[in-house]
Amino acid sequence: MIEAVKEVWSGPLFVRISASDYHPDGLTVNDYVEYAKRMKAQGVDLIDVSSGAVVPAKIDAYPGYQVPFAETIRREANVATGAVGLITSGRQAEEILRNNRADLIFIGRELLRNPYWPKTAANELGIQLEAPKPYVRGW
Ligand SMILES: Cc1cc2nc3c(=O)[nH]c(=O)nc-3n(C[C@H](O)[C@H](O)[C@H](O)COP(=O)(O)O)c2cc1C
Repeated sequence: MIEAVKEVWSGPLFVRISASDYHPDGLTVNDYVEYAKRMKAQGVDLIDVSSGAVVPAKIDAYPGYQVPFAETIRREANVATGAVGLITSGRQAEEILRNNRADLIFIGRELLRNPYWPKTAANELGIQLEAPKPYVRGW
C-alpha cells in the first residue's frame, strides 16, 4: 500500500495510526513500534499517532493522553511522529515539541472552537506572527 502511494506521490508522506486498542486482546504501542520501523523503511516520513476507535473499549481521555504513544514510537522506531488528542494550549504544545516528545502537534476540536488558535497560541507564547497580506489591516 505504501509503495503504491509512493509511486504517485513524491511529497511528504504521513500515516495515521491508532497506537492502542485499549483492549486486553488488542494491539499496543509496542506492536506499532515494529510497524513504524517497517513504515519508515518503506519511506514514510511521519507517523501521526492517535489511539482507540478500532474496537469497542473504554478510553480514559485527559489532556495529552496520546502523547506518550507518539513519544515511544519516536524514540523506539527512530521516526518522526505527530501528537494529537486534547492538545488545546500553546504552552501544552510547546512542552511536547521542546521536550522532543513529538515532531509535530495536530489540533482537531480546538480549531473548530477557535479557528484563530495558532494566533491565540502565539500570543500565549509571546511570539509575533506576521499576518497574511489580506489580514494586515485587521491585525
Ligand atoms: C469532525 C471531526 C472529524 C474527524 N475525522 C477523523 C477521521 O476521518 N480520521 C481520523 O483518524 N480522525 C478523525 N478525527 C479525529 C481527529 O483527527 C483527532 O484525532 C481527534 O479529534 C483528537 O484530537 P483533538 O482533541 O485535538 O480534537 C476527527 C475529529 C473531528 C472533530
